[in-house]
Amino acid sequence: MNQASVPAVAAVELVGIRKSFPNASGNVQALDDVSLSVEQGEFFALLGPNGAGKTTLISILAGLTKADSGSACVMGFNTVHEYRDARTNLGVVPQELVFDPFFTVRETLELQAKYYGVKNASAWIDEILEHLDLTSKAKANMRALSGGMKRRVLVGQALVHKPPVIVLDEPTAGVDVELRQNLWSFIKRLNSEGHTIILTTHYLEEAEALCQRVAMLKNGKVVALDTTANLLRGMSGITVQISADATPPAWVSRGGMQASGAFGYTLSGYAELESLLAAYREANIVVKEMKLGEADLEQAFLKLTSRSAEIIS
Ligand SMILES: Nc1ncnc2c1ncn2[C@@H]1O[C@H](COP(=O)(O)OP(=O)(O)OP(=O)(O)O)[C@@H](O)[C@H]1O
Ligand SMILES: [Mg+2]
Repeated sequence: MNQASVPAVAAVELVGIRKSFPNASGNVQALDDVSLSVEQGEFFALLGPNGAGKTTLISILAGLTKADSGSACVMGFNTVHEYRDARTNLGVVPQELVFDPFFTVRETLELQAKYYGVKNASAWIDEILEHLDLTSKAKANMRALSGGMKRRVLVGQALVHKPPVIVLDEPTAGVDVELRQNLWSFIKRLNSEGHTIILTTHYLEEAEALCQRVAMLKNGKVVALDTTANLLRGMSGITVQISADATPPAWVSRGGMQASGAFGYTLSGYAELESLLAAYREANIVVKEMKLGEADLEQAFLKLTSRSAEIIS
């Protein structure tokens, strides 16, 4: 797409974005100086706990919410001063299910095509319907669809104008396992054809499997921005969950307990596991059950974003 000698413009460039909302106790700082850029062709994950600011950031990118300060560009177009160009280059699958209930599935997609001035959209709409397993629902009214089906139509709507940058805000929430697989192979194909994909999800195994780079948000701030591989390398080692016949002293439990009543640890390797078990023996506590696992993105996520980060030392 770009000449080798010309540096490619970033797919998304966010600089110093701040946004606060009034709430009952004053103001909530939804975004607090967020800067990041996503290169063309990346498959990028935007992760963070509930309320971290992901949807607010996407809404600013789509020009639907105005930042208090900072700037956002899509394919080099400023989302405020060059709104139309920025919007044309972006397809957003919103988190909320919002539709006109009186249109059919196909009409909904055709309207979207008209809105973006897409000509001869019919074949592409057929393809979208097929990939999203909606062909048999093409003539169904939106109000007659289940939640998961409505979400598929939202995905379709975002793709109608073949935008170079596609942002998916929780696209698989409420979508069944089979369709989730179909959806991801479709999105992966779009990525391999050059579309930039930005994804938010609470299914961390999806982000781990699909995304080359990850930004983690917490309380409106970027707390990690790295390749998925580096984040995982930072977590290299083993995880272990131990259930015991009594509560171990703080120096053994390292302060944290999981909802299951087990104590969770991230260890550098099996030698450290030896000394941990020795500590249990020394404290006269019998280990009843032990589960071992490889460190994964979920561990990195918890470590970086959890309030009880001390559970995983
Ligand atoms: N329109 C609004 N009015 C007031 N507060 C808002 C508004 N939109 C978002 N917020 C607040 O901004 C913060 C960030 O919300 P946001 O929806 O961006 O989080 P999120 O990371 O998308 O969370 P989730 O994972 O639950 O979707 C929250 O504290 C939220 O309550
Ligand atoms: Mg959200």
